[in-house]
Amino acid sequence: MRDPERLRAREVAPSILAADLSRLGAQVDDVLAAGARVVHVDVMDGHFVPPITFGPNAVAAVADRVHAAGGIVDVHLMIERPERQVADFIAAGADSITIHVEATPHVHYALQAVREGGCTAGAAICPATPVTLLADAAAAGVLDLALCMSVNPGWGNQRLIEHSFGKLADLRAMLPEAVGVEVDGGVNAATARAVAEAGANLLVAGSAVFGAAEPGEAWREITAAAWPAP
Ligand code: DX5
Ligand code: ZN
Repeated sequence: MRDPERLRAREVAPSILAADLSRLGAQVDDVLAAGARVVHVDVMDGHFVPPITFGPNAVAAVADRVHAAGGIVDVHLMIERPERQVADFIAAGADSITIHVEATPHVHYALQAVREGGCTAGAAICPATPVTLLADAAAAGVLDLALCMSVNPGWGNQRLIEHSFGKLADLRAMLPEAVGVEVDGGVNAATARAVAEAGANLLVAGSAVFGAAEPGEAWREITAAAWPAP
């Protein structure tokens, strides 16, 4: 369900890319029990990025348990011509869909299609893509979320590119308050505070959550590191 306010909240979003897929349901239940309410699904097509990961079936596999906990499924499409696929991801139970501005000449159209399907619409930029490429979508009022890749998309467990801090600050300053800012790549307990202070409110974390022995506990630690209790 479309809920733009959820995307402006402070949240660490576990990415199931790093989960043990042989027990995906239990892994998702673990982070939901710890308090996670945004579950990130990384879709890769072998074209926009070299690896192939999930399709709509992975969204459908987690959607019911995420929704039952009051959470949302945050789908990150690292695929070419995403506008041709959004309907299938919406039908599978996505709540938020983010496309890459580098993956289509039809960014406005794609975002509008996501919105019309009843989801919140995000646009992502790769590390060398200027933040200004999101300005017109925001000004046109079709953007709910800006995703700043802090690693090159395609693989988990990479080191955060420090240039991203300045881009996050620029995005937060450039975008209307109604648009959330998400950061994705290399987020862990050591980097979470810096990306949050730079301007991100939604922090994707894959290997730092599911690579840990206790994913729920790791989720709590990253959340506490990002936004320490006063
Ligand atoms: C990378 C994906 C990320 C990935 C992050 O292309 O978009 O969401 O899961 O992985 P970590 O948190 O391990 O850097
Ligand atoms: Zn992602």
